[in-house]
Amino acid sequence: MAATLALPKPAPFLSKAEKFLIDQDYAAYTCEQHGIWAELVRRRMPQLERHAAQEYLDGFEALCLPYDRLPDLAAVSAKLERRTGWNATPVSGFMPAPAFFEMLAARRFPTTTWLRSRGSLEYTPEPDIFHDVFGHVPMHAHPVFADFLAYYGQLCSRIEDEAILERIGRVFWYTVEFGLIRQRGEVKVYGSGLISSNGECSNVLHSGCAVRPFVLDEVLRTPVKVDEMHRLLFAIESFDEIYQAMHTIEARIHRGSQLDD
Ligand SMILES: [Fe+2]
Repeated sequence: MAATLALPKPAPFLSKAEKFLIDQDYAAYTCEQHGIWAELVRRRMPQLERHAAQEYLDGFEALCLPYDRLPDLAAVSAKLERRTGWNATPVSGFMPAPAFFEMLAARRFPTTTWLRSRGSLEYTPEPDIFHDVFGHVPMHAHPVFADFLAYYGQLCSRIEDEAILERIGRVFWYTVEFGLIRQRGEVKVYGSGLISSNGECSNVLHSGCAVRPFVLDEVLRTPVKVDEMHRLLFAIESFDEIYQAMHTIEARIHRGSQLDD
């Protein structure tokens, strides 16, 4: 009997995001820029080794993210795709929501390639490659988190109502960007805004930020504030909770009921 050859699956066509896709010109990074990456990693790691979620640290190690030079996105993606089907796709910068959701639904994380300067190590107004790769990408190696993020993209890409998207965006903010988890009796960070920033992370660990259990209705009722340190964040007990939260949101939308009860 003749063997049947399986053809490789074509990559999903990204009609909305396509114009934002670029190549990472890795050879163009300077020694100074590799040095800035190394310093950023050196500054963040001591706090993260004590206070990051185990899943983040495991992902960082599994993807062999470099300590001493900027990451080559193709090499990171090759490791990541084998684990969860996600990759880190280079994009030109800020993307409109429909293009962003389309990429998440296809398990392609929109990843910037520029790096902050030495004069702004702690803060950048827009995400750079440190925020995107160091902050976000290790969590994409965790199967449940990976499924949750794709689910988020698939659901949001089918919604046109801006008010509903704003509400669901709060779930993204309080998980993907500023998520906390309780592990062995301690609050650990896994959101990229906390992972990549000493100030934001220290605000949670040592200052007056209240930490409440992740209750979907409360998260949906809590507006996002981007111009001040958080006074309230939410801690999950396991990543299954946020996957289930997307399921609950989808069911409420299908029923036509209010998103937050
Ligand atoms: Fe982010």
